[in-house]
Amino acid sequence: MRKIAFTNQKGGVGKTTTTINTGAGLSKIGYKVLLIDMDPQANLTYSLKIHSRKLNRNIYHVLSGKAKVEDIIVHHNGFDILPASIDLSGAEMELVNQPAREHILREALESANLDYDFILLDCPPNLGLLTLNSFTAADELIIVLQTEYLALHGLSKLIQLIKIVQKRLNPELKMAGIVCTLFDNRKKLNREVVEHIRDYFGKKVFKTVIRDNVALAEAPSHHKTIFDYDGESHGAKDYAMLAYEIRNGAKP
Ligand SMILES: Nc1ncnc2c1ncn2[C@@H]1O[C@H](COP(=O)(O)OP(=O)(O)O)[C@@H](O)[C@H]1O
Ligand SMILES: [Mg+2]
Repeated sequence: MRKIAFTNQKGGVGKTTTTINTGAGLSKIGYKVLLIDMDPQANLTYSLKIHSRKLNRNIYHVLSGKAKVEDIIVHHNGFDILPASIDLSGAEMELVNQPAREHILREALESANLDYDFILLDCPPNLGLLTLNSFTAADELIIVLQTEYLALHGLSKLIQLIKIVQKRLNPELKMAGIVCTLFDNRKKLNREVVEHIRDYFGKKVFKTVIRDNVALAEAPSHHKTIFDYDGESHGAKDYAMLAYEIRNGAKP
């Protein structure tokens, strides 16, 4: 079982889109996949319309000890989800005085005895306690970068945090790679940014670059993954390739 967190403290860079569609891509090639929504904005949950099932418990209840992981698993078209809700925004405050507060998610997942090939975590756009719980529960991290000006801005802070987590909380945590998203080949700036990212991070950068593709932006409003919404789109092709690349293993 591989547990991979998709992260960047910036919002709008494609974390949620990447978590959903990489998960869907992996499930399409036969793997058992669980997605965990760790963002209080619950975009992953909303994008797949899980919220309309009127669930009364979600990941917030797991973190605050009011529910077990098994109780909140939702099945969706080929993969499973641990949904979030706005309740989660209270978790940071509530958990701050708990002992070993960064380990709560990891312990909850371990005690659930889960049988998945991949658990993918969609991190919130900050470096707070929910992100720390995600990094402590995961064994691999994938940084999601938008191929825009300032793509690398703020990244040293994220990398510093990863190093601290590796030292104090989760020595097993590996940087599995960097994925570039929202790439528009017609824009010189986008091409330059990808080149710069490759110069900087070398082999850590996935070969697959996720293109800017309108179908990827539309799919959530239809509550579908890119494969169910438009299987022929660039978005479907890119995420299918990324799923294979991730399946093939962590980068050196
Ligand atoms: N490759 C892409 N092409 C076009 N739109 C995209 C792409 N990736 C993400 N989007 C859109 O950009 C917005 C931000 O993406 P999202 O995955 O929610 O980012 P994050 O989770 O990092 O905040 C969403 O509206 C999403 O539909
Ligand atoms: Mg998101």
